[in-house]
Amino acid sequence: MTLEAIRYRTGSLQILNQLLLPHQTVYDDVRSVQDAYEAIKTMKVRGAPAIAIVGCLSLAVELRAGAGGDDPVTFIRESLCHLTSARPTAVNMGRAARELMEFAENESMEKNSEQLRESVIAWIEDMLERDVNDNKKIGNYGAQHILSGVPRDSVTILTHCNTGSLATAGYGTALGVVRSLYTLGRLKRVYCTETRPYNQGSRLTAYEMVAEGIPATLITDSMAALTMREMDITAVVVGADRVVANGDTANKVGTYQLAIAAKHHGIPFYIAAPSTSCDLSLESGRDIIIEVRPPEELTSINGVPIAAPGIEVWNPAFDVTPHQLITGGIITELGVFLPSELQAALTGRLTAL
Ligand code: MRU
Repeated sequence: MTLEAIRYRTGSLQILNQLLLPHQTVYDDVRSVQDAYEAIKTMKVRGAPAIAIVGCLSLAVELRAGAGGDDPVTFIRESLCHLTSARPTAVNMGRAARELMEFAENESMEKNSEQLRESVIAWIEDMLERDVNDNKKIGNYGAQHILSGVPRDSVTILTHCNTGSLATAGYGTALGVVRSLYTLGRLKRVYCTETRPYNQGSRLTAYEMVAEGIPATLITDSMAALTMREMDITAVVVGADRVVANGDTANKVGTYQLAIAAKHHGIPFYIAAPSTSCDLSLESGRDIIIEVRPPEELTSINGVPIAAPGIEVWNPAFDVTPHQLITGGIITELGVFLPSELQAALTGRLTAL
């Protein structure tokens, strides 16, 4: 079974509404940039790569219908600016916006509006294939790296949040590593955290693992340290929303405490992320803007209140793991690198390990 979170055919885009999973499988039409902005903001679609891909595809849908008229460059600029403002922490949408804008401006020098729309659409459509290919490389590099460090036949992984087909164009990053290990016949089990408050682990990762028959066990976030001590965890592998120049990494809130617990137990801690999630323009994690989400995500589940009325809430959606705790490495489509090697690797001065 191939889980299709993003359905795109030229001129039409649908997304699997992740607010309704795992109980209902409903595809919502995304007809405009504004539809995509709202889907991203309300987390109908989430996960750093998927946010960028859906955002850009919504622009492709509008361009296909002739949006921008005689001045598509202005329309593209305003649309990308709006999409980038939906969620601030993941860098992928902002990065895609910058690259796409540069491409569009160059193209506009020698093409008329219609030709420009066509080439921008082609650039965007290519994102889908590039992301799946990168994820497969991440899966392969990650699996080999983890296996090279262990004498055992099979390994046990602990992961956090959802980094699979639902968070990307397909296959996934950290969950791509899990998929690769499973395909190699070397995965004993993956432990996935519930990932409060939005429950990406229990709703989405568990859904993907069950659908594919990958051996998986759900734990609450508060069971992670105990699981590391008792369940012979080989490695912790998580995704990233933004990896900055010194290797500090923003990812789903709770990642930081997993890294601390992994260090205490001597378990290698890996970040799995495409280079599109890296941001060398920021020096350290202190520079990353952390999105704070509505209190209702903590105080209720599916509209049912679960907290004492009147309690004050702090709901940061992400935290930053300092590079010193990323002991296994950063798994990218270019290879696996230590945080200290990341800049050289991304600028082509270092090749895969
Ligand atoms: O708030 P979310 O669900 O968008 O957060 C998702 C994560 O933190 C993922 O780990 C990250 O985006 C990587 S997805 C391949």
